[in-house]
Amino acid sequence: MRIDILTLFPEMFRGPFEASIIARAVERQIVKLELHNLRDWGEGRHHVVDDAPYGGGAGMVLKPEPIFRAVEAVQPLSPEPGRVVLLTPQGRLLTQAIVDELAELPRIVLICGHYEGVDERVREHLADDEISIGDYVLSGGEPAAIVLVDALVRRLPGALGSEESLVEESHAQGLLEYPQYTRPADFRGLGIPDVLLSGHHEEVRRWRRRQSLLRTARRRPDLLAQALRAEPQDEACISDEERRWLEEELETKLDSD
Ligand code: ADE
Repeated sequence: MRIDILTLFPEMFRGPFEASIIARAVERQIVKLELHNLRDWGEGRHHVVDDAPYGGGAGMVLKPEPIFRAVEAVQPLSPEPGRVVLLTPQGRLLTQAIVDELAELPRIVLICGHYEGVDERVREHLADDEISIGDYVLSGGEPAAIVLVDALVRRLPGALGSEESLVEESHAQGLLEYPQYTRPADFRGLGIPDVLLSGHHEEVRRWRRRQSLLRTARRRPDLLAQALRAEPQDEACISDEERRWLEEELETKLDSD
């Protein structure tokens, strides 16, 4: 996968891209990350990229010309044009399903907004997609782009050490992950669940599944409601037995529609 990132602050990416899974994926050529400074396409001698909003108001707005020119210059750098994604708090709220959808693409071009906003014509006539990483406002799209790249890269085949970790982790099946423990079994008098020391794989599997359900029910009732509606062939689907067990644990009836 190739990811082009258009930003006024390429230096913000260096640390995150030079460590851990992202760095290894770049080294293994699983992903190509290309940073482009929007200022290179700025207007005039001073490479101006922003201007005051029409109609007045506080702050500055990113001008359309540098962003259009940047996308037009960057798209031909590789044979396949990328999906142009604007990072903005007004975009589709990022979920694992959206990450999985984007991870299928051979290429994406990310535009990081900054200041008070981006000229609306970028949104309307240049961006194919708009993504928000959460209902809060960042000072720019850069941290959002880093989050998106991280979530995408770890989905790419070969990026993780063990493919297992993709299957079982939180959200992969629409449920939160079960509690994890490692040695020592007694840490300052704090133990771990006996079942994990039992060596019974089937019991461990059942315990984990139930912890996953319980945790999702308590922390993310919205996700549990979705899982309760899942089709039987879906991994997230909750069996009648699991539902009855959960209702007993929670001492409440769960909606069945
Ligand atoms: N830019 C500013 N805030 C943002 C957010 N929450 N998600 C994506 N881009 C943003």
